[in-house]
Amino acid sequence: MTDPVEGAKKLAAYKAVDNHVVNGVIGIGSGSTVVYAVERLAQRVREEGLEVICVPSSFQAKQLIIQHGLKLGDLEMHPELIVTIDGADESDKDLTLIKGGGGCLTQEKILASCAEQFIVIADYRKASNNLGEQWSRGIPIEVIPSAYRVVYQKIEKTLGGKSELRMSGSSKAGPVVTDNGNFILDWKFDGLKNNWREVETQLNMIPGVVENGLFVNMACKAYFGMSDGSVMEQ
Ligand code: 5RP
Repeated sequence: MTDPVEGAKKLAAYKAVDNHVVNGVIGIGSGSTVVYAVERLAQRVREEGLEVICVPSSFQAKQLIIQHGLKLGDLEMHPELIVTIDGADESDKDLTLIKGGGGCLTQEKILASCAEQFIVIADYRKASNNLGEQWSRGIPIEVIPSAYRVVYQKIEKTLGGKSELRMSGSSKAGPVVTDNGNFILDWKFDGLKNNWREVETQLNMIPGVVENGLFVNMACKAYFGMSDGSVMEQ
């Protein structure tokens, strides 16, 4: 693999799957790094007879599970997961995360909350000391479509910063619609904050907000693939 970023994603994903997955029910996050985790899971099923049921966090994750011939489950049948493996847009020194770059933050947070262990896999670009240093697109917030404007205004009034309604590739195609039929606001907060738990709660208290992409005290470990071929564990 020549692309250093793709190589780094693969290293992190393979290591996390090897270190944390045993027989049982696994939560599968979304995004490009998770593709390698599912690839490795399928290898281990074929080669070692690993027995896993995979619960997806998105349409993309579901397709990946099916394409790799893995067993598909859901939270109704399997509300307790031994581990959830997922990517992140940014992860700070306390493993506080920004997630939702792919718009799947609500299901991702649910799966993270159902798992004994929530493990983050990412390439070296995602590790930071303070949120906002690496990920410039802001904190994704899933909102009920009819409320996007009032949510936008309330965030600005109470927390400051600026929000943007996430649009599909060309803005003529309209807003991005999540797997739940909602819209995404990307909130660019002002300056650095460290009271992320409070910010997470304040955002979720605004009527019309479904969930936000701040993950506080959820991840127990992160694997960052590095450009030199090593994996940094945090
Ligand atoms: C999707 C997510 C992803 O996990 C996050 O965007 C990271 O994606 P990638 O692995 O492609 O960098 O939160 O909602």
